[in-house]
Amino acid sequence: MTRTVYVNGVYMPEDKATVSIFDRGFLFADGVYEVTSVLDGKLIDFEGHALRLGRSLSELDMQSPIEMEDLLKVHRELVKTNSIEEGLIYLQITRGVASDRDFVYPSKDTPPTIVLFTQNKPGLADSPLAKVGIKVISISDQRWGRRDIKTVQLLYPSMGKMMAKAAGCDDAWMVENGTVTEGTSNNAYIVKGGKIVTRHLSNEILHGITRSAVLRFAREAQMEVEERAFTIKEAQDADEAFFTSASAFVMPVVEVDGRSIGIGTPGPVATRLREIYLEESRKVAV
Ligand code: PDD
Repeated sequence: MTRTVYVNGVYMPEDKATVSIFDRGFLFADGVYEVTSVLDGKLIDFEGHALRLGRSLSELDMQSPIEMEDLLKVHRELVKTNSIEEGLIYLQITRGVASDRDFVYPSKDTPPTIVLFTQNKPGLADSPLAKVGIKVISISDQRWGRRDIKTVQLLYPSMGKMMAKAAGCDDAWMVENGTVTEGTSNNAYIVKGGKIVTRHLSNEILHGITRSAVLRFAREAQMEVEERAFTIKEAQDADEAFFTSASAFVMPVVEVDGRSIGIGTPGPVATRLREIYLEESRKVAV
């Protein structure tokens, strides 16, 4: 089945969808994005993603081409047309098509480009990987300084994934000034003596929507949470580790730089948080 995608107000088959070579997203990575998961044909944490999108746009002085309510309608329409039960919706907005290549932003009346497409992922919630956990390596964080803005500049995270693969691992945790910032496309956590530790919010990391929900559920379940930076050594000495993201929910991490965490299997805190997150998020999905 050909996917139906959304480009600048129009639903069309994916093979008909095109964007100009002068698009600022293509030439300057001048664009922002969101990834929202779909479970039972419904959107998980939609409001959080829409709010963060608004913030990313405003931090870059970029206009939104769409109202929040219409954005929800487009998401829902794509889920329906493409019969997505479990999967992801990718959304990207760029500063639009300038008349030529120029570092200076085009005039404010240049319409932004908006693109949405679905990714069908049956079995997303019941991931076999979550049952065994993943292995990470550490790499130095060489991204720009405004990681709180969800831009499409993903070359370094992509390189990080390739470094992890070359080392026989699944992902990389990035380290800056001796502490872990985040994973290539996720927020990082350790658990020690029952306490969940994850980096505090700042410009150094993306303010994960899944992070915010998971920390809320953890606190509601009387689990202790500490928001502070941690080192790779601490991660290796921890009882458990895990990461969160819209595409993987809560994912146990069982090895860091070749050292097993705990007994090398997904720990009870990560496993429980994954269950709670999936259960609670499904209840309020839209
Ligand atoms: N990535 N940190 C980074 C650098 C990310 O790219 C992501 C998300 C997260 C987690 O954020 P959230 O919980 O809102 O998904 C943290 C998405 C899933 C991606 O690029 O595919």
